[in-house]
Amino acid sequence: MNAHDSEQMAQILSEAGYVETDEVGRADIIIINTCSVREKAAQKVYSHLGRLKKLKQKRPGLVMGVAGCLAQEHGTGFFRRAPYLDFVLGTHNIQHLPGMIEEIRNTGSRIADTSFHRSVMSLGIRTLPPGGGVSAYVTIMQGCNNFCSYCIVPYVRGREESRAGADIVDEIRFLADNGIREVTLLGQNVNSYGRTLYGDADFPTLLGMVNEIEGIDRIRFTTSHPKDLSEDLACCFADLDKLCEHIHLPVQSGSDYVLRGMKRGYTAGEYLEKVGMLRDACPDIAITSDIIVGFPGERDEDFQKTIDLMREVRFDNTFSFKYCDRRGTASEKYDGKIEEKVSGERLCALQSLQERHSLEKNRYLDGRVEDVLIEGLSKNNDADITGRTRGNKIVNLAGDADMVGRTVRVRIVQAYTHSLRGEMLEGGRNVC
Ligand code: 5AD
Ligand code: SF4
Repeated sequence: MNAHDSEQMAQILSEAGYVETDEVGRADIIIINTCSVREKAAQKVYSHLGRLKKLKQKRPGLVMGVAGCLAQEHGTGFFRRAPYLDFVLGTHNIQHLPGMIEEIRNTGSRIADTSFHRSVMSLGIRTLPPGGGVSAYVTIMQGCNNFCSYCIVPYVRGREESRAGADIVDEIRFLADNGIREVTLLGQNVNSYGRTLYGDADFPTLLGMVNEIEGIDRIRFTTSHPKDLSEDLACCFADLDKLCEHIHLPVQSGSDYVLRGMKRGYTAGEYLEKVGMLRDACPDIAITSDIIVGFPGERDEDFQKTIDLMREVRFDNTFSFKYCDRRGTASEKYDGKIEEKVSGERLCALQSLQERHSLEKNRYLDGRVEDVLIEGLSKNNDADITGRTRGNKIVNLAGDADMVGRTVRVRIVQAYTHSLRGEMLEGGRNVC
């Protein structure tokens, strides 16, 4: 979500005549796009700002601001912590960016623009990925109404609001016309897409519409909330040829006691049922997840239930985090905060189990033939190209730049924990 916001900022600034630079020392405008979902990300912003302060002292004409979730959360409070900042731009106001910079340059004033709007104009800013990439993000909805007890997102991104299906389809047609082959539909909870659109499509219907768009070969989406995952959506994995066989389905915990405290709205058993439903529809679907350890009140036996659930599901990958308090959330006030050392140990145990499962999942692909969409040249080896399977596994293989954007048939010849090695099949260039 944040990466896409950055692309949108770059896009509207380039339309206003600005040119991107890799050298921070040469920039006339610096924007730090921030995330406040977890504390670590927030801390990084302040240390980064400290380094940039020196640049501002050297070049007073430099316009410097913060955008994103942390900007939304702190608003003008940012000016107290970093008085050298010129602007604070909230999550709903990206489209104001060029006008805001103009005003700062003309008047020298400081601006904080963190108002919320029911319909967020910036959702419609069309961007193409940098460097001629073949995969693009499309925001289909903003905000979240779930208020999981640990999560700051509803406070910094506002209430859930879906974009009209016709606008989304138009945008994807534009992307396809500009060489994009894969789209990732973005929303905090895509499964509830359409609830705020009276009479318009629900998410499975939207997927069906996107599946019809010529030029698009692959569709992905993120993120799904387990409580809203319907049988219709599971069937899409069987019925829609372009929908890739991968779902990111954050479970957060395997303990019903913890899930209740998190206000997730499902039990571990219900989560497992949804996994079963997905695998019935699509036996080889790759499933990834987010997990929080050390949620307030998490006992050893609760953590063990998370481990048990992981053993049962065997996720292809998980993103795991130590719980941290976020300002204004319900769980900030919960008793039973877990010692850092205990959370650290649980995180370590969980991650080493996941490494084993990831390797096991990748080994299952060894020797099989996969369709791989080539995304670019490998960063580690000049003679290699890199792409992804439909299950979202990274594959490196020998090849050249003219393959970028093509889907090729590849035999997997080596499985690692986080990637695969492949060989293009004879005639593999002809898939599409
Ligand atoms: N502490 C730790 N992890 C969190 N996440 C969200 N809020 C918190 C928090 N307060 C994690 C969840 C979510 C992912 C994006 O970040 O696992 O799915
Ligand atoms: Fe946060 Fe829960 Fe909404 Fe996800 S569903 S963004 S965890 S409140």
